[in-house]
Amino acid sequence: MNLVAIHGYPLDHRLWAPLADRAARGELGAIRSVFAPDLRGRGRSDRPAAATHAMSLLADDVAQEIETALPKDAPFLLAGLSMGGYVCFELLKRHGARFRGRLRGLALFDTKAMSDDDASRAKRKEAIEAIRKDGIAAALAAMLPKLLAAGSAGSPAEEVARRMILSTPPATAMADLAGLAVRDEGFEVLAAWDRPLLVAVGDEDAITPPSDAEAMTAVATRAPWVKLLTVPRAGHLVPLEQPDEAAAGLAALAEAAERLISPTRR
Ligand code: MLT
Repeated sequence: MNLVAIHGYPLDHRLWAPLADRAARGELGAIRSVFAPDLRGRGRSDRPAAATHAMSLLADDVAQEIETALPKDAPFLLAGLSMGGYVCFELLKRHGARFRGRLRGLALFDTKAMSDDDASRAKRKEAIEAIRKDGIAAALAAMLPKLLAAGSAGSPAEEVARRMILSTPPATAMADLAGLAVRDEGFEVLAAWDRPLLVAVGDEDAITPPSDAEAMTAVATRAPWVKLLTVPRAGHLVPLEQPDEAAAGLAALAEAAERLISPTRR
């Protein structure tokens, strides 16, 4: 099975590298490969940044990339971290019917289903202005201290996070922030979701704390398998900070998804 994994703000595909490595080594259960596209305007994406990266726009991009990159009819699991989780909600809303026969499970890492309130929107505006004035260094100063658990300070995970932020073009980061401010909430999508669901969160996540993860699992009453994984010694970047825990969660999700397709399998 493939895993399609969507990164958060202001990051890129490198977020998922520890899991892609594990999949390549056969250490991710039924998941044999990880497809982690860069969202538009950064990294290996050939799509230019837009003025506003509405989550619907990013979801349409990802849907197209899935069609192109994955073998036709190949089953997959969908994962998103933070902004990537918001993109998953839009993808399910807009393209869920198209992928219904192939999409076997959903993994949400360090994200939430709530939309921005007025105070959060005002903060996004301030963040956009700071980047306009000082460049991507403003995003680094604002985000890096909040992204990782206390114990991840000075770790290789911190270095990868720093590099990802610094290689995000300022216009891309500003467009992401503009899109984040106007996103819809994801509770309805989760309430309708009827496949296995993994919700993983670092117990030190300062941006989307464990209470946000609990709120998502609470509404997912139609999902036949739900796992809330609270990961010790991790902040907002569980796949980078504690990749073994993330891998175990994803392997369990894949197993649940396979069991549902062939119920006699154990
Ligand atoms: C992210 O990590 O993608 C962002 O912090 C999400 C957000 O700010 O809502």
